[in-house]
Amino acid sequence: MAMQLNLTLVEERLKTRCVGRNLLYLTRTPSTQDVARAEAKRGAPEGTVVLAEEQTAGRGRRGRSWVSPAGKNLYLTLVMQPPAAQLRVLSIVSPLAVAEALEEAVGLPSRIKWPNDVLVGGRKIAGILIETELVGEAVKYALVGIGLNVNLDVGAAPEIADIATSVRRELGRDGSREELLAALLNAFEARYSEALESDAVFRAWRSRLETLGQRVRATLGERVVEGVAEDVDADGSLLIRREDGSLATVEAGDVTLSA
Ligand code: BTN
Repeated sequence: MAMQLNLTLVEERLKTRCVGRNLLYLTRTPSTQDVARAEAKRGAPEGTVVLAEEQTAGRGRRGRSWVSPAGKNLYLTLVMQPPAAQLRVLSIVSPLAVAEALEEAVGLPSRIKWPNDVLVGGRKIAGILIETELVGEAVKYALVGIGLNVNLDVGAAPEIADIATSVRRELGRDGSREELLAALLNAFEARYSEALESDAVFRAWRSRLETLGQRVRATLGERVVEGVAEDVDADGSLLIRREDGSLATVEAGDVTLSA
């Protein structure tokens, strides 16, 4: 039998007003994104979290799949309703909250690969998928999907063994999913509220960007931009200095970044 999350433990540690206060806990589902979308359509309150022990069709960005075995990791989707002008804030707050939760709950120093992969020791420990439903210019809801490898035996997943890691791999022992989840939801709400008021969140995200100073290749559909990742602008777009000296601005959207 797979391990069940102890929801009482999570609740005891939760300091939020809204995020995680309505939590839907599922044993097994194709993807928490789909359940969260249905909940959002039915008018679920902002901060609703859908969490599953196992996903049978977990999705990553750009049509990739997300390895989602039972009882090992955290697979969750948050339902948020940011004002349209603040939509970008989600892709800054989400990886930052994961990175801060990893440090607080299990002491792992974490970095961010632009725009929103979370890395430990240069390997990916968490991925984020943000899907948005718009009506005209307005945001109806945004679905923030987070997959965090906690007790995954990375070696048993050969397709990701070279590029991925987990808390267990880094610590050499299991980490508490409950502590990580509570720390993540706490950090998410705190950073989300803060981001609407100050640029401290942007600076915290920027200072964790592993990508800056590295040679990168950004692929946006047909377009390929190669050069050195010099900085990010105030919107969070990546500024890439090409060999010929020109500067390209790359928005997060559908970019794949490779070294
Ligand atoms: C990526 O790095 O490509 C994004 C991965 C996002 C995975 C999470 S797990 C919870 C939520 N449900 C999904 O199907 N995907 C996201």
